[in-house]
Amino acid sequence: MVDLRSLDGKTLLITGGAGFIGSNLIHFMLKRFSHIKIINLDKLTYAGNLENLRDIENDPRYEFIHGDIRDNELVEKLFRKVNGVIHLAAETHVDRSILDAGEFVLTDVYGSFVLFEALRKVDIDFFLHVSTDEVYGSRDEGFFTEEDPINPSSPYAASKAGADRLAHAYNVTYGLPILILRPSNNFGPYQYPEKFIPLFTTNALEDQVLPLYGEGTNVRDWLYVEDHCWAIELVIRKGNIGEVYNVGANCEVQNIAVAYRILETLKRPRSLIKSVPDRLGHDRRYALDCRKIHALGWEPKHSFEDALSATVTWYRDHPEWWKAIKGKSKSFKSFYNEYYKNRK
Ligand code: NAD
Ligand code: TYD
Repeated sequence: MVDLRSLDGKTLLITGGAGFIGSNLIHFMLKRFSHIKIINLDKLTYAGNLENLRDIENDPRYEFIHGDIRDNELVEKLFRKVNGVIHLAAETHVDRSILDAGEFVLTDVYGSFVLFEALRKVDIDFFLHVSTDEVYGSRDEGFFTEEDPINPSSPYAASKAGADRLAHAYNVTYGLPILILRPSNNFGPYQYPEKFIPLFTTNALEDQVLPLYGEGTNVRDWLYVEDHCWAIELVIRKGNIGEVYNVGANCEVQNIAVAYRILETLKRPRSLIKSVPDRLGHDRRYALDCRKIHALGWEPKHSFEDALSATVTWYRDHPEWWKAIKGKSKSFKSFYNEYYKNRK
């Protein structure tokens, strides 16, 4: 167990802190601990956005470093300044990985390798590796425990699986203080609007179609991002080094039901939903057995209904945030043009 009763007084390195979960985590940690110091290492890919952190950019407890996790000299230098690392940086969108998996292998697998190598050289208290439930692959019924074999189906999930097993190997082989988290689908503020919930919400707000893959019967277990942040904190403080922890909300919902709920909240018609060709290799269902993290004292504090409504309201009230991405970002538009060109 990492002997940290509190993260107060500690310096943490968060990789990928300008992304969706990272920026929520930085807000969460700064609110929760008065004397924490956070260094955010982020390359600012298309998904990294410093607007997510504008309100805390001058907080003396926070420092931003613009850099790549594959830069081993930079990584080693930063490791020498911190007590612990939370590794989130990754390429994360399944549809992009289907079009071109190269950056996924280079960032998710090789980038994680660079971090694990640095960990061999620098003595720090803990390294929390954020993996994903997608490494297990799909199952029609029952729940994956941490002991189940991994069997990823998309290039994204396979890249995350490579990093997940490297994390395990570096713990077993070199005794490094690594813990692994496998969270389910997150949602909340600051999620890049190519992902399902923010895409459907912002499209509905603009009275544009909601492109539902296939029949819309695929199932995801939706976890509110703040509950995930709390799980990260708890596993760092109470988890056992070398172990894997599933984090899910036990909240399975079919995609079509999520779409209906978004439309109801925004008072938009169901006719906005358009069935489009299914994602290649589309995983039918993710489902986690979370007894291990429950035993540490974690459970989700937010209901899906309330958290989804708060999330949809957040996007409704922050159009400047997502319009800047959807309107101006070449990378957003060109990705979708290319994606659908290939799916006709
Ligand atoms: P995101 O795409 O919103 O953010 C990723 C961040 O990583 C961006 O800020 C990007 O600039 C940064 N980044 C990418 N490559 C980098 C590099 N080479 N060097 C430094 N920074 C780099 O992702 P997210 O949704 O916040 O996910 C964070 C982590 O959580 C990922 O590891 C993801 O696999 C995992 N995860 C996400 C979910 C989810 O539902 N979002 C679920 C389970 C696990
Ligand atoms: P996504 O947010 O990409 O997460 P995941 O990593 O679980 O694939 O997608 C969530 C679900 O929503 C998934 O079953 C695919 C579906 N989906 C659509 O139906 N339409 C879309 O435009 C997108 C992006 C996703």
